[in-house]
Amino acid sequence: SKGNHRHYMLKEIYEQPIVVAQTLRSYLQQLEGRVSLPIPEFSLNAIKRVTIVACGTSYYAGMVAKYWFEQFARVPVDIDVASEFRYRAPVMEPGGLALFISQSGETADTLAALRHAKAEGQTIAVVVNVPTSTMAREADLLLPTHAGPEIGVASTKAFTCQLAVLAALATNLAQAKGLLTPEDERAIVRHLAEAPASLNAALAYDESIAAMAHTIAGARDVLYLGRGTDYPLALEGALKLKEISYIHAEGYAAGEMKHGPIALIDENVPVIVIAPSGPLFDKTVSNMQEVQARGGKVVLISDYDGIQAAGENCMATITMPKVHPLIAPLVYAVPVQLLAYHVAVAKGTDVDQPRNLAKSVTVE
Ligand code: M6R
Repeated sequence: SKGNHRHYMLKEIYEQPIVVAQTLRSYLQQLEGRVSLPIPEFSLNAIKRVTIVACGTSYYAGMVAKYWFEQFARVPVDIDVASEFRYRAPVMEPGGLALFISQSGETADTLAALRHAKAEGQTIAVVVNVPTSTMAREADLLLPTHAGPEIGVASTKAFTCQLAVLAALATNLAQAKGLLTPEDERAIVRHLAEAPASLNAALAYDESIAAMAHTIAGARDVLYLGRGTDYPLALEGALKLKEISYIHAEGYAAGEMKHGPIALIDENVPVIVIAPSGPLFDKTVSNMQEVQARGGKVVLISDYDGIQAAGENCMATITMPKVHPLIAPLVYAVPVQLLAYHVAVAKGTDVDQPRNLAKSVTVE
């Protein structure tokens, strides 16, 4: 049931601290300060290359994971949406891990891609939320998320749980490759274990996000900008907004703005900038200022330091707790989901059952 919540989507957004904690419990050994996979005998140290395939929101979780696998485990990663991957004759060398991410475990394109990779001799890993699903059954390495049933067509809690599992997998890969000291690993476990509390803190901004939703609800187009792991979040924010509010939205890598999309900017196009303070912050802020110089109305999502440094000329700001970069994508997913939700509510659309969409896409 929806409990006290008006929609399943809102209930599922609010469940995130609990289900992320639940998911992490099967990957973290907090006392030992270690990360482990549910299949201990499975060895990752021979993995030379990772191919990630998924659709929609699950694909964006995979994009975040690409940054992590490359940065922490120094493993080359290829990533594609399933409907392209399956038909483009991808090159998969022996010794590769093919990783499929799916809430339902039944998405037809992703399943076809999985079977193709299997036929090509890849080791098949899946991150799925439904443990009895076809993908779960056909995998060599099953990495479950424990988000519980997700009813809203717009994926929310499955996404943050996928990120939690993928962060654990990246850590495990790095460890298998001898790239982590025990102290490094302990620190990562500590940061991941903080995620549920930080998700809770992020949820506290629900009302202020609801209060600004009407300023977005009137827009015809909305842009989302982010850099690094915030780039996939920009894509995810745009997908959430378009699927439930029917407002045209696009996500861009912040640095790509000046290569075309900036031509769209005027005072009628809200631009949502996702930029936690950190090494990439100044670069993203300069892209944001290019937008502001052209009359663009910016909503800056950052932490206290970021808002202090760059929030001044923004139409609105959303202050997130200060978090470690590894868990930032989980935490920043929350305002992005809430913004889409409240804009859709302001527009009066059917949030849980948006037009033309199905929860599980079982045709190719
Ligand atoms: O069940 P899956 O994770 O394989 O589904 C993939 C996409 O269909 C799904 O994420 C879709 O994009 C959602 N409606 C996004 O909110």
